[in-house]
Amino acid sequence: MRIDYLEVIHYRNYRRQQIEPVEGLNIFVGENAQGKSNLLESMYVLATSKSTRASRDSELILFGEPSASIRARVNRIKDIDLAIEFDVSLVEKKFAKLNGSRHTRMADVIGQVNAVMFDSGDLETIRGEPSVRRRFLDLEISQTSPRYVHSLGAYRKTIEQRNFLLKEIRERRARPGSLETLSAWNVQLANYGSLLIDRRRSFLSRLSVIAAEAHSLLSDGRDLLEITYLPSFHVNDVSDVTGIQQEFLNQLAFVSDDEKARGTTLIGPQRDDVSFSVSKRDSKLFGSQGQQRTVALAVKLAERQLIEELVGEPPVLLLDDVLSDLDDLRRRRLFEYVGETGSQTFVTCTNLRAFPASILERARIWNVCEGKAEISGG
Ligand SMILES: Nc1ncnc2c1ncn2[C@@H]1O[C@H](COP(=O)(O)OP(=O)(O)OP(=O)(O)O)[C@@H](O)[C@H]1O
Ligand SMILES: [Mg+2]
Repeated sequence: MRIDYLEVIHYRNYRRQQIEPVEGLNIFVGENAQGKSNLLESMYVLATSKSTRASRDSELILFGEPSASIRARVNRIKDIDLAIEFDVSLVEKKFAKLNGSRHTRMADVIGQVNAVMFDSGDLETIRGEPSVRRRFLDLEISQTSPRYVHSLGAYRKTIEQRNFLLKEIRERRARPGSLETLSAWNVQLANYGSLLIDRRRSFLSRLSVIAAEAHSLLSDGRDLLEITYLPSFHVNDVSDVTGIQQEFLNQLAFVSDDEKARGTTLIGPQRDDVSFSVSKRDSKLFGSQGQQRTVALAVKLAERQLIEELVGEPPVLLLDDVLSDLDDLRRRRLFEYVGETGSQTFVTCTNLRAFPASILERARIWNVCEGKAEISGG
């Protein structure tokens, strides 16, 4: 997959900007707050219809203007040229256009462009709270599994109602028959919960293999990355969903008194965590800044590969501020690796000193200044 042409109009700090990227490496270089990340963000919106940074779409519109557009021409294996456009407005509903036809349901357009984005927020997956890692799992798995999305929604509803009942029991406000209701909720909880656990476990076992390879390349084989699923109860000895479901019910029986005393559900996917360890040391606790960044990057590169396997062609790679904290060796390894994947790549940086000359020779470079991007030397 390749973006051949990108145009943003009244988007963030851009009035109107056109860009013709190359197939390989594209670099946006400039001082802080000039508009480098904004360009990467616009391409991420093309893929997902949303920005990772904006809480509201209206934030994407140039101050003082009523609407913003992102237009692109994309080359894909299945249909050579796709014209895609997203329009955000202060008054109208957001819409997209695919080869000229208009869509207001974003589900119809998401995934037409496939992109993987790395930005500094991804470091939180490694060093943040467990809830960040659960969100990461849910986002990643949801992208490729509608069944997971459904189970997740059903599980959340079940837990809400079950907690409500447990609170009633704790406060001795429970009505007759509430213990029967509780055991019905238990079955439902174990039913949906076991699906989530099973998918998370298999996603992580696949991810950990690919991420370890990427990580070994980046760190020149010095550090071994291990990604381990940490569910709230052991499922190591159980191989299938039914087994997990049974174990879930066993464990619920085990913590039952405790749950009634505390008025809340104590086990299940809502308590899961993931550990990232480098050479047997937990990255969250002991990783240096550069090590944590390398781990986060390896995870993104693994995600890139998983998407490629799924859609049958390499997704676009968007690397925002990836170079800080990485030493020369890791930078060189990163661009060698990325070059070999065949993913069209966009990188932002504040200067070009970080790039090996051999890499720069093949790249197209834009100087970005005050909402204008100009081809370097052009
Ligand atoms: N809706 C908007 N309208 C106008 N300007 C905006 C809007 N949203 C953001 N900006 C401005 O765009 C500028 C560039 O932001 P961007 O995040 O792209 O910078 P950057 O070049 O990536 O900088 P850094 O090197 O610090 O990451 C910022 O000064 C920001 O205030
Ligand atoms: Mg930036």
